Amino acid sequence: MSSAVLECKDVFKQYELRSGPLEVLKGVSFDLKEKELLAIVGISGSGKTTLLNLLFGIDTMTEGHIEIDGNNVSNMSKDDFRLFRRDKVGMIFQEFYLIPSMTAIENVMAPLIIAGKSEQLALTKAYRLLERVEMRPMANKYPHQLSNGQKQRVAIARAIANSPKILICDEPTRALDTTLGDGIMDLLEELIENENIAVIMTTHDPEVAARADRVLIIRNGKLVEEKIVDKESFDFRAAKAIYREPEIAENEPAAKPKAKKNATTKKSKKSSKKSKTS
Ligand SMILES: Nc1ncnc2c1ncn2[C@@H]1O[C@H](COP(=O)(O)OP(=O)(O)OP(=O)(O)O)[C@@H](O)[C@H]1O
Ligand SMILES: [Mg+2]
Repeated sequence: MSSAVLECKDVFKQYELRSGPLEVLKGVSFDLKEKELLAIVGISGSGKTTLLNLLFGIDTMTEGHIEIDGNNVSNMSKDDFRLFRRDKVGMIFQEFYLIPSMTAIENVMAPLIIAGKSEQLALTKAYRLLERVEMRPMANKYPHQLSNGQKQRVAIARAIANSPKILICDEPTRALDTTLGDGIMDLLEELIENENIAVIMTTHDPEVAARADRVLIIRNGKLVEEKIVDKESFDFRAAKAIYREPEIAENEPAAKPKAKKNATTKKSKKSSKKSKTS
């Protein structure tokens, strides 16, 4: 069985609001295995982004234990975590967060320069990364000159610049149409296959979730269900019901699973792996 690159145990997160404490995560436990594509789904406000922010260390948990690549990050100071994640974890955010005053190439160079690479090396590597995400021709464009799909590609190039083991993606296809969204998912699958990256992503789209190896369902700050995705028989109707009010879901005709153009590649990858249900 492939080993876990990330483990979360009994993670709690509470925000202190003027009106009183708001408990957002209520004991979340799961793991992410090597080369796994794990999806977290759940309605708006269920705690998905909060959880990802804890994993990336841009917010701190109230209680719990997080281990990344065998290192306990729960007790690390913010500075230590920042250094640690620079080499191990990349994140693409719900809102991209590209630096508006920097061109695409400069955005991708930034994490390399921060990691101590020379400007020349960073430039060469950043061009390679933009090539990888098919954005090299747009290298000198500023974020406001790019479409959402293009911004997302630059954000992915930036997130993988320091060859992380884990890529955290908050709704990676949110602002994209189906074709662009499929392209981003193809890219993520390719990174998993060729760069040994494990991906944890959130999504509101059942078709995107169906491309994951496993889907965790979060409801009101708790993981309530785990599914191993079988591409042939993925229950789109059940998946849609997660995002909608029950009475709407009741009347929704069951959608047919879409044929995946890279289903064979994905299958062969999966056949060499074993997943566990917990
Ligand atoms: N910094 C914060 N301070 C106070 N409350 C917060 C903060 N961040 C998030 N919350 C609250 O935590 C809850 C979960 O928010 P979160 O952003 O994790 O939801 P989500 O599942 O990512 O939703 P969406 O699908 O809309 O992105 C919400 O009720 C939100 O208002
Ligand atoms: Mg969110």
